[in-house]
Amino acid sequence: MWFASPADVRDRLAAADYLSDDSIATSVFLAGALGKPLLAEGPAGVGKTQLAKAVSAATGAALVRLQCYEGLDEARALYEWNYKKQLLRIQAGGGEGWDAAHDDIFTEEFLLERPLLRAIRAETPTVLLIDEIDKADVEVEGLLLEVLSDYQVTIPELGTITATRRPYVVLTSNASRELSEALKRRCLYLHLSYPTPERERDIVLTQVPGIEADLAERLARTVATMRALELKKSPSIAETIDWANTLLALGRTELDEATMDATLGVVLKHASDQTRTRKELGL
Ligand SMILES: Nc1ncnc2c1ncn2[C@@H]1O[C@H](COP(=O)(O)OP(=O)(O)O)[C@@H](O)[C@H]1O
Ligand SMILES: [Mg+2]
Repeated sequence: MWFASPADVRDRLAAADYLSDDSIATSVFLAGALGKPLLAEGPAGVGKTQLAKAVSAATGAALVRLQCYEGLDEARALYEWNYKKQLLRIQAGGGEGWDAAHDDIFTEEFLLERPLLRAIRAETPTVLLIDEIDKADVEVEGLLLEVLSDYQVTIPELGTITATRRPYVVLTSNASRELSEALKRRCLYLHLSYPTPERERDIVLTQVPGIEADLAERLARTVATMRALELKKSPSIAETIDWANTLLALGRTELDEATMDATLGVVLKHASDQTRTRKELGL
């Protein structure tokens, strides 16, 4: 049992400094209750990775993270054999027969456990974060399908390992490409987008101690205005937080035009986005 209800999710995530809304809380609750992986998709910096960390913090479950990237393969995701150590063992064995050596070197001692296997074998509650799955090659999705459908892994030399307790699985994607229908079918889908200005103000207030509520509100509203401009790269929550920290560091208590002009680079990282925003906001 991960969470008692969506309301329980909201409270416990908030205690772990993660502010959710109804749709987040419901999805997080259901993923736990139904034992299904949660696929969180949305633009960069809206709190996808942090959500998995917050579930781990809120439930006291260990976090196992598989960071995806181009070229990620089974050996990095699941397990591999420790070839160096196997070689040493064979040399140390000094001429014993192949069968004896084989039985010896394909054992637990020579196995290098990677995140997926670690999460499947974990005996204590575990949150498995498969981060930025859209960066991995499509073949990795096939591997995940196998692992996430039966929560078991077969290692030819050792046999099949089945999870004694299912990990709570969170997959994240920035939607840089479409994921396979087969993978999506297995998951609960949560679209994470930019929060309302009210929630973003509250996020700033929890993440940036010392900031005034009025200033946090002003920042959240300004960022919301920028996001409506269809910029090349809209500011993310992470950038709003950076902006708040910047103002705090500069000792500014107001977001006046001069301050905004001087600190715009904290939130907008393209020259054309800055030009556009300056024009629209009359800086
Ligand atoms: N709902 C939220 N509550 C509190 N902080 C949040 C929330 N969403 C995002 N953040 C903040 O924004 C930062 C970036 O979020 P992150 O999870 O890294 O984004 P993503 O993985 O979607 O790119 C986090 O470190 C966290 O400080
Ligand atoms: Mg992330």
